[in-house]
Amino acid sequence: MAPPESPAGASLIVRDLAVQRGGRPVLHGVSFELRCGTVTALLGANGAGKSTLVMTIAGVLPAAGGRLELGGENLLGLPPDAVRRRGVTVVPEGHSVLPNLSVLDNLRAAGSQLGRAELEREIRSVVELFPEVGALLNLAAHNLSGGQKQMLAIGQALIGQPRFLLIDELSFGLAPVIVVRLGETIRSIAERGVGILLIEQFATLALSLASEAHVMERGRVVFSGTSAELSARPEVLHDAYLAAQSSPRAS
Ligand SMILES: Nc1ncnc2c1ncn2[C@@H]1O[C@H](COP(=O)(O)OP(=O)(O)O)[C@@H](O)[C@H]1O
Ligand SMILES: [Mg+2]
Repeated sequence: MAPPESPAGASLIVRDLAVQRGGRPVLHGVSFELRCGTVTALLGANGAGKSTLVMTIAGVLPAAGGRLELGGENLLGLPPDAVRRRGVTVVPEGHSVLPNLSVLDNLRAAGSQLGRAELEREIRSVVELFPEVGALLNLAAHNLSGGQKQMLAIGQALIGQPRFLLIDELSFGLAPVIVVRLGETIRSIAERGVGILLIEQFATLALSLASEAHVMERGRVVFSGTSAELSARPEVLHDAYLAAQSSPRAS
């Protein structure tokens, strides 16, 4: 069954999201809005709750409270494939691809819900975006470099034309030249109208791509504003990263 239609330019709105892991509260009322056609940076130290947030949005982790609104519908509590069918996709931390499948089969697996012609069209558009990956379609994915795996993971997430793309640790473990290349692609994907949430350990890179930014500290959003505002207030990030070092991770 097709998911309900929501207005084309609708934002994805996270309201008062609360999540527990291992019986302990990890997110304490997180709220923000992700707009179509923009890059929004999500920054914060290790353990702040960024991955928990995107995995909960994706339907992989259960929420203890709050709402995830898209066009008036609450997506919280839907299973991951239903969230994805509504146009919300996640590139999980660590660019996980199916190592023993070929690159092409990885892309096909990401579009198993699509008709054959549509899937072929989607794969062609991923190949246009990432010709490096397009040249390796028949290679088993475990042979790819880290950068190629991340391109494949982003390509998989783009199959089916999502409206929102949540990328957890874009540059993790990748060479700087690849990171710059990926950054340009992120910008071009947003220019096509996709709303991108970018979790990125290099704050300067994230802020150069993003128009808006949120900073998390111990399961809370402690700053929301434009990238320019955050760039002008380096103490915000400094404090957020320092707070993580000076307190035990138990929260
Ligand atoms: N599998 C898990 N089980 C229980 N608690 C977890 C698990 N993974 C992470 N946590 C806790 O959730 C908090 C947030 O972690 P995470 O979302 O991974 O942060 P980030 O992505 O910002 O580094 C951490 O304090 C961590 O202790
Ligand atoms: Mg993380």
